[in-house]
Amino acid sequence: METIVYAHRGASKLAPENTLPAFELAYHMGADGIETDVQLTKDQVPVLIHDENVRRTTNGIGFVQDYTFKELQKLDAGSWLSDRYAQTRVPSLESFLEWVKDKPLKINIELKNNVIDYKDMEKIVYDLLASYNVLDRTVISSFNSKSIKKVEKIDPTISKAYLTSQKIKDLIPFAKAKGATGLHIRNRILSKPLVEKAHKEDLYVAVYTVNRPSLIMRCYKLGVDAIFTDVPHVAKKTLEQYKK
Ligand code: G3P
Ligand code: MG
Repeated sequence: METIVYAHRGASKLAPENTLPAFELAYHMGADGIETDVQLTKDQVPVLIHDENVRRTTNGIGFVQDYTFKELQKLDAGSWLSDRYAQTRVPSLESFLEWVKDKPLKINIELKNNVIDYKDMEKIVYDLLASYNVLDRTVISSFNSKSIKKVEKIDPTISKAYLTSQKIKDLIPFAKAKGATGLHIRNRILSKPLVEKAHKEDLYVAVYTVNRPSLIMRCYKLGVDAIFTDVPHVAKKTLEQYKK
């Protein structure tokens, strides 16, 4: 069995999260896939940024939804980590797709619509993914279960994952009822019975955020299908050494 290694927000330990340098670094580190977070600008452009507010990861203030894409491009999304990255911008989903289209990487688009329920986000993102012909290597995920259901209505065949950090009752039937094909869970709720039950019900399991080698190995031994890590080079090396 393989455990797929997704770079969480790119190689976000060493480069500014959710930026093209972080994705590029993850690719060179041998990640199998990229996980990234999507929000919508005022003019409904899908952009890659984790928080609803730009404050933590740019030199701006205020909400992503109050910036047009053009305005957002004036912000510096790299200096908060290092001066080296001062010219880095908040990427559009489209620029990411342009970058990834010829690379053999899996894609996880996390819709960040659990705080702000962006209108038509599912359709806007889906149509863009379809136009780049990457649907067969993409999983769409969200903490917002209603959003998973909306994606299910748009395309019952695309991979969809319900994200949760909570041990909720009847998690597996709940996720299945929304049309999920996978569960993306926080590491603190990972358990052997949960992985076994999910697999029995044909749901794959992916775990975030897995950075320590001991946790990487635990996931592998429990048969976890994929991990999200800020350190893809560490994850790939740990898994390869174990298999030898
Ligand atoms: O998609 C896995 C993980 O990224 C979910 O949590 O807060 O890091 O987006 P967060
Ligand atoms: Mg995420």
